[in-house]
Amino acid sequence: MIRLTIDGQEVTVPEGTMIADAAARLGIEIPVYCYHEALGPLGACRMCLVQVEKMPKLATACTTAVQEGMVVHTHGPQVDKGRQGMLEFLLINHPLDCPVCDKGGECFLQDYTFEYGAPKGRFLEPKIQKVKDGPINEFVLVDQERCVLCQRCVRFMGEYVGEPQLLLEGRGVETVVTTVDHQPATSQFTGNVIDLCPVGALLSKPYHYKARPWNIERQESVCPHCPVGCTMLVTGRDGRIVRTEGRPVPDREWGWLCDRGRFGYDYTYHASRLTTSSLRGVSQAAAYTTREVGQWLKEVVTQGGGDRTGWIIGGSHTVEEARELWHFAHEIVGSPNLAVSRNVPGYLPRPLNGTFDDVKQADTVIYLGVDPYEAVPVVHLKLRERRRHFPTLNIVGIGARRLTRETLPGEDILVAPGSEAWVLAEVLRLKHPDHPAVARLTAGRHLASGQLASEVAERLADLLDKSAHLVFLWDGLHPELESVLQAIQSIRTAPTKVLPTWRPSNWRGFEAAGFPARFEALTRVLQKARDGELDLLVLWGADLWNEYPDQALVQDALSRVRYVVYEGVVPPGGGDLIDAWLPGATWGEVTGTYVNMEARLQTATASVNPPGQARPTKTYITAFTRTLGHVFPGVEDFDPYDPEGGDLLPMTTASEEWEPLSEPPVGSEKPWLITGQWVFEGGYPSDILQHRRPEYPARISPEDAEKWGIGETGRLQLTRDGKQLAVRVTVDARMPEGVIWIPLGVPDMPVNFIGTGPVDVTSLEEVHSA
Ligand code: SF4
Ligand code: SF4
Ligand code: FES
Repeated sequence: MIRLTIDGQEVTVPEGTMIADAAARLGIEIPVYCYHEALGPLGACRMCLVQVEKMPKLATACTTAVQEGMVVHTHGPQVDKGRQGMLEFLLINHPLDCPVCDKGGECFLQDYTFEYGAPKGRFLEPKIQKVKDGPINEFVLVDQERCVLCQRCVRFMGEYVGEPQLLLEGRGVETVVTTVDHQPATSQFTGNVIDLCPVGALLSKPYHYKARPWNIERQESVCPHCPVGCTMLVTGRDGRIVRTEGRPVPDREWGWLCDRGRFGYDYTYHASRLTTSSLRGVSQAAAYTTREVGQWLKEVVTQGGGDRTGWIIGGSHTVEEARELWHFAHEIVGSPNLAVSRNVPGYLPRPLNGTFDDVKQADTVIYLGVDPYEAVPVVHLKLRERRRHFPTLNIVGIGARRLTRETLPGEDILVAPGSEAWVLAEVLRLKHPDHPAVARLTAGRHLASGQLASEVAERLADLLDKSAHLVFLWDGLHPELESVLQAIQSIRTAPTKVLPTWRPSNWRGFEAAGFPARFEALTRVLQKARDGELDLLVLWGADLWNEYPDQALVQDALSRVRYVVYEGVVPPGGGDLIDAWLPGATWGEVTGTYVNMEARLQTATASVNPPGQARPTKTYITAFTRTLGHVFPGVEDFDPYDPEGGDLLPMTTASEEWEPLSEPPVGSEKPWLITGQWVFEGGYPSDILQHRRPEYPARISPEDAEKWGIGETGRLQLTRDGKQLAVRVTVDARMPEGVIWIPLGVPDMPVNFIGTGPVDVTSLEEVHSA
């Protein structure tokens, strides 16, 4: 450790710390443009000049490492003169258009000029004119005249994200920031450069000219669009959310967001948002609809009891809302039929739960069916950061398609669709043939030989055995992996952790509130409905049409129930089966807690009120309770935070029972349809994102494209078990032959309608010409 003095205060910091960071520990702010802790030092802007005793010249605090006994002065005539000089240079060609700049009031050029700048400009020459409001892409605008050439944006895209789509072009005063070949930046992390830019040079297009800092309010929130639950600030104005920004959390989050999360907020005021109540498709006054639903409830409970009702929660409800619903359904109505709407059958036993801290310590990360870039994008950035600090990080993708990418290279182990669990079981058996966990898992059975090359199996077995900190990312689609993951954990002594990537993002919060989150619970409720054991089914934000894999069961269940009540923010698929529509409040409109994929509890504060007749859960629950002749007591005494768990949900230590694997899978000659998590999953319409949401989301290999007569993109008809689905496909070199991938949750291409497995394929051109 190194001890030094800054502005008369002593501080002790690790060797290698820069003066700027050491000062920050003392709460002393040194002005910086180019420096950002996540990107490391550069020394380009010279704004951070400080005086170090015994050094002949001013030093840059961001590139000068601390030394024992160093004495630093961050203020003083010499320092102030140096900073004033730097600012004078920066302002020579600056357009001084602060009154119309979106960043006005939030700009470090303004702040530092106010603090250190010269009272008067000395340059009378005409300023050099450059591009204003030029496009970086459909989300980000560049004003080249305001740029201070700090290179934060360029370095973030190139070094941090690994997609070098921004660059500095030109020389001297003509230097500008622009895109490579002047083409739109396509990365899905481009919005972060808006937050990183210390001045008004990179701006949000959707927020352009929408507000000034003094007439908006920012609230702390978390992104609801995938289970990463990135921390953000939400800006509301005139009843609408107009902007989201990343929110750094010291020692935990840098505040990165993916573009889907950053710009997908307009679903909250989208034209398709549910804002009126309706009964059997006819709009009604909110009070009338609520009373009517209350009467249905009363009728069912009085005639058959609370166990003739079913309650499925989904969507972006908070933990507190889930608890309100649970309290009403379970304690007041007395229903045992509670479930969480889920889009995959997998379940994660608590002892396996991994956190982002595990990613920071991992030496091996294995993707099980999931490509983090497309499913949980900011986890991809966390993995890249880990690789930067630990270059030997092993990354392995196991699935029926390639899951690793050029920006974060690893080894892909392609396996036959559906054989993932058995492949891992066989790999375990290689090193531990007599271990009871393996015996229990496989019950003496084997995967057919030839399914896995022996050298690959050996390599993987070594990794499972020798990794000091093993992390799996699991898409949950192959539920039998739950048993295999538990077996791996029981065999290994070193940390073995899993991060689940499935939706809804807050499924764990619903579980904490009392709703059983196992997939079987959901299936059981639907089966009861199908078998005529339920008279009323409540779907609280649960979009079963988009989420549940067996659509035939959904259809049968909902057709059989006397009353189907749907509360939500956008209309789901099966509108004609719904008897009452209750418009609900959503993210950004309620204050409460969300639980992310690492089981972390995070609070979000409401920024705006729900529109039209939309109401938060408590309003409906209070009214229903009254109709049943009770007073809703509220759930204020419910506190999801556990004194033992801190910000994480408490973890049980005992391992849960796990089942042996079912019979080893047999292959098929037919092409195989598989699916996976996708950050653009349906349910949240967005005009801002419409150009980024791929129009041809399904993927096939170049070999299959040739076979089926598809160019770069095309349309196919898939047939499975007598059901047909028309899909828009694009050719992807990462796809293996004979496999078709359709992401979950594409509203007009519901993969769960025909289910995954072998399919018959016809080119749609052939279908049309027949
Ligand atoms: S655009 Fe902003 S972040 Fe990029 S170099 Fe210019 S000032 Fe820095
Ligand atoms: S990674 Fe997920 S949680 Fe984070 S910003 Fe993107 S969509 Fe939102
Ligand atoms: S912040 Fe130190 S040189 Fe730019």
